[in-house]
Amino acid sequence: MQDAINGWAASAEAWMDSQGAEGDFARRWILDRVMLERVEAQQPKARAALDVGCGEGRFCRLLRDRGIPATGLEPVEALRTQAEALDPTGRYCAGQAEALPFDDGSFDLVVSYLTLIDIDGLEEALAEMVRVLRPGGQLLIANINPFCSAGGWVKDAEGRSLHFAADRYLEIRAEWQEWAGIRILNWHRPMEAYMQPLLRAGLRLTHFSEPAPHGGPAERVEKYTRLPWFHIMEWRKD
Ligand SMILES: C[S@@+](CC[C@H](N)C(=O)[O-])C[C@H]1O[C@@H](n2cnc3c(N)ncnc32)[C@H](O)[C@@H]1O
Repeated sequence: MQDAINGWAASAEAWMDSQGAEGDFARRWILDRVMLERVEAQQPKARAALDVGCGEGRFCRLLRDRGIPATGLEPVEALRTQAEALDPTGRYCAGQAEALPFDDGSFDLVVSYLTLIDIDGLEEALAEMVRVLRPGGQLLIANINPFCSAGGWVKDAEGRSLHFAADRYLEIRAEWQEWAGIRILNWHRPMEAYMQPLLRAGLRLTHFSEPAPHGGPAERVEKYTRLPWFHIMEWRKD
């Protein structure tokens, strides 16, 4: 099945190790805080949330702990099984973003937490996220900056990062990425590939940020600040 969902089935164990209980560096020190601030700023509070590509369910558990019932959608069985084990009363479903198994307008919060670069059918997936969102609802996206997915660090002979080189920015492509026992297929797409479908669908951009780390190991903070890897967007459906 689609190369076991682009490498995620074979990488599930290593991925769960990399996340630990509090998430990896990016989630713990950069993204969670802003994602949760945006969720908590929504009035009235969301009553039903969907986390598309929920992995082992960490963000669903964070929503649950804030009194927001969340459904996690995850195509990889090993990740879904772990999500269910860590949250036995939670709701976790098999499926893919390109064909969400939910009725129109089922959720007032839809989350895509670092999943858009994993999804093959981006336009279909964004259309589905908009479809299952209620009018007035919030679509919250954490994504990798396209200027990062277009390149890599240039290093000296000692392995020190000299500068970052991006290339072929407008060329949409999928490339295998490997680190820490994880091997997955990631998409590079220019920023407009993410913005245009949501603008065409009539959504309003109500938040955009490139958050700096608020803590964490000094060398990670320094490296991240040289080149912020992520942005967060909040869109509203009127
Ligand atoms: C980088 S992980 C992020 C997991 C989780 N959102 C988090 O932040 O910990 C990407 C996730 O997207 C899932 N995924 C890959 N292709 C997908 C698709 N077409 N539809 C939904 N999820 C998909 C993967 O199985 C994986 O769990």
